[in-house]
Amino acid sequence: MSRFPGLSNAGENVPASIFAKLREHLARFPGDVIPLQIGDTHLHPPATLEAVAWAELTLGDVYSYGTPAGWAPLVAAIVEKARTKNRLSIGEANVQVACGATHALSAAVQALCDRGEELILVTPHWPLIKGMAIGHGAVPVEVPFAPDLEPVLEAAITPRTAAIYVATPNNPDGVMLTAAQLDGLARVAERHSLWILADEVYEDYGYDAEHVSIATHPLAAPRTVTVFSFAKSYAQAGLRVGYALAPEPVAAAMKKLVNHSVYNVPVAMQRAALGAMHAGAPFLQAARERYRGARDRARARLVAPAACPPGGAYLWVDFSRWSPGDCMPVLERVAEKGVLLAPGSAFGDACHAYARLCFTGVAEPRLDEGIDRINAVLADW
Ligand SMILES: Cc1ncc(COP(=O)(O)O)c(C=O)c1O
Repeated sequence: MSRFPGLSNAGENVPASIFAKLREHLARFPGDVIPLQIGDTHLHPPATLEAVAWAELTLGDVYSYGTPAGWAPLVAAIVEKARTKNRLSIGEANVQVACGATHALSAAVQALCDRGEELILVTPHWPLIKGMAIGHGAVPVEVPFAPDLEPVLEAAITPRTAAIYVATPNNPDGVMLTAAQLDGLARVAERHSLWILADEVYEDYGYDAEHVSIATHPLAAPRTVTVFSFAKSYAQAGLRVGYALAPEPVAAAMKKLVNHSVYNVPVAMQRAALGAMHAGAPFLQAARERYRGARDRARARLVAPAACPPGGAYLWVDFSRWSPGDCMPVLERVAEKGVLLAPGSAFGDACHAYARLCFTGVAEPRLDEGIDRINAVLADW
């Protein structure tokens, strides 16, 4: 039966932007808006489009279709990086370049989860992963993170579970999985023949611990798709380049799905991404120190409590003292002062009392100013 004018399940049910309501309140503020809600950076990337030697290229080098798996020189550099830095035993057939980690994760969910199958989300979770599950017909199942991770994962598994999504360092709370937690995750996944979706886009921003790729675990290696991002590592969010490393059959499936969605990531953007890989080591070191300083500064200045995130780009702020149950009233008042925070509800059903504050998106003086405005709202509460 035709459903016109109704939409598909995905069209109806993938969540809309979480900021629409706050923007109404923001509209009342006439001055300088400080965006602490979005996970971006104020730093200049280590390589830009201007740095690409366009004049030396032929038209075909830039304007012809590229290969769906990724531009060969970038794929080769990714293999080298994954082997040396992430200690993963991979080759070119394991790499899929995508339009950001967003696209890589979407293709991975599509490749691994069938309609009605469950995707476990270790929660709080990056918001878009839930919409991706819904968009591909899978069922997102939130499992609150616990230091003893293995039993909570074990308890959530059903005959329909297909995969477990986890981010380390995590967005929004910066939690980095310990060796024991990685071991527990790998053992559960192996015991129940599950896939692991390892979101490691913040691999370069571990402040208090060394980042370890989940796929280095021997039980995890054959069942893990790991996703990385030039947006996060190299301040190139607008270029939309990310990549997945996957066991060969999964990479081959993802290549088909990428072929049928975007065909190839713009080659021009992949050239600038490769430039960042070549020139970016000093940037990574400097950015890590700068972000660590911003984290500590933000935490010390903010009146509301937030656990110290060992990695990532965010404070996960607990507003329950001011607005028990749901911090939206606080966030609306903060928006009226020209500061946006990301509502916790987007990160999990049990996260309404929290909000996410990004400490890498604006330079320190504006970060201070934004936090002062939040503190002023809390002082008047
Ligand atoms: C945990 C996590 N995964 C994936 C992404 C998507 O990254 P990209 O910009 O490369 O699509 C983000 C972006 O904020 C993120 O925080």
